[in-house]
Parts: sequence; structure tokens; C-alpha cells
Amino acid sequence: MSRRVLAAGNWKMNKTHSQAAEFIKELALSVKGAKNEILICVPFTNLETALRETEGTNISVGAENMDYHDSGAYTGEISADMLVDLGVKYIIIGHSERREYYAESDKTVNLKVLKALEKDIVPVLCCGESLEQREDGITAEWVRMQIKIALKGVSKEDVTKVVIAYEPIWAIGTGKTATNEQANEVCAVIRDCIKELYGEDAAEATRILYGGSVNAGNAKELFSMSDIDGGLVGGASLKVAEFTTIVNA
Ligand code: PGA
Repeated sequence: MSRRVLAAGNWKMNKTHSQAAEFIKELALSVKGAKNEILICVPFTNLETALRETEGTNISVGAENMDYHDSGAYTGEISADMLVDLGVKYIIIGHSERREYYAESDKTVNLKVLKALEKDIVPVLCCGESLEQREDGITAEWVRMQIKIALKGVSKEDVTKVVIAYEPIWAIGTGKTATNEQANEVCAVIRDCIKELYGEDAAEATRILYGGSVNAGNAKELFSMSDIDGGLVGGASLKVAEFTTIVNA
């Protein structure tokens, strides 16, 4: 079973509207003809620009968060319908920064995954352990629990549409990458969890990314590991040359 490698950028709270337009023009030229799939997840204010600038290119566009309600009195929030109407096809759900700073819980992550699937948006579902959890030896249990709750109510037919991103919190933005083996080991645990819930075919078809200080120097080796199908890239996705190297890894 071959799973196409996905290089996904997570811009986080970076780049203004004008900076985004300029960056994407450059990126589109730089990654033209790349074999791997390319996604950039950008702030809400950059979505329209990103969609326009990527038209006719090999770059897809995603959002970084959304609300799970359809509409209503939720000041400051964005609904799935708003994203769909713009043409957004992917959404990051449950990033550790959302969980830590904005009280995102496993329960709301699950509601968002269900809403995204209902609206035909591909969820990029994030999970991962803290340094303390790793040192306590509960990484596998923790990540399995996050995945099981996040996928509650997701059908077998839908589960393979979900992209899972394993991001150890201690490796995010720290320059401290998990070793290839550490990263692959947890991605294999996640695949095994999918197998347990949905069977072998679903497990083999589901894409699992690694994220946490992926850069031009380590992407190739990480992406060549048996259970890693690409990367969710923060800092290094903000530089055209570096992200291009990762895309071609
Ligand atoms: P980083 O971020 O590549 O800057 O470590 C990854 C992420 O948070 O998705």
C-alpha cells in the first residue's frame, strides 16, 4: 500500500496578508513539479489570498482552527461552512498550542473532527505527548487515548480521509527533533490503534505525519521511515528555500 507523502506547512500566527501573497508566489514557482503533496495551513486573514495565489498550482490550502458549531453567537470564531464556501479543503485540528493556550480538549477536538468530515474538509488531527509524559513512559498510552477520543463516532469509510500528525510537544519549535526511530515508533503505535479500531486496510491507508522541528536537514530521513508519511512543519515552512527542500524530501 503506497501512501503519498504530504508536506504540510503550519504558519501559525505568522505573515500578514501582503507578506503571504508575496511568499506564495515565490513558493509556487519553487515547488512546481514536486512529486509530494503540498499543503500550507495559514491564518484566517490569509486564506482568501492563499487560495487565489495557489490556483492552478500543486499547493493546497488549509486553515489552522475552526469552531464545531454551525453558526451563531460565538464571537471571534469561524465555522466549517465559512471555510468551505471559500474553498478551504484542509484544517488543522487539536494542535498542542490550541490545547495548551486555548483550552482545546479531547472532546472539542472530537467534535471538530466530526464537523470537518461532515463538511468534507480533511482534518489534520494533531496528537502528542509532553516531555514529562515521555519521561514517565506513558507516551503510547497517551497518544492512543488522544486518537481514540478524537475519532469517536468517525466511520470506517471516513477514517482514511483523516490525516494524523504526531507532534511530541517537547519537539515543537525547540529545535529538538525526535530521532527517526522515536518518531516512527509512535507513528506505528498510532497506526496500530487505527488497525484495532478500523482494521488493517484502514490502518494501511491512513496517512500519519511527524511534526516537531522538521527542517531541510532531517526531513528526508524522517519521511523515509516506514510509518511516517510526511511532516507537519512549523518554523521551516515560513522560508521558501527550506520548505522546498522539505517538499522534495
Ligand atoms: P515546528 O512546529 O516545526 O516549528 O517545530 C511544528 C508544529 O507545531 O506543527
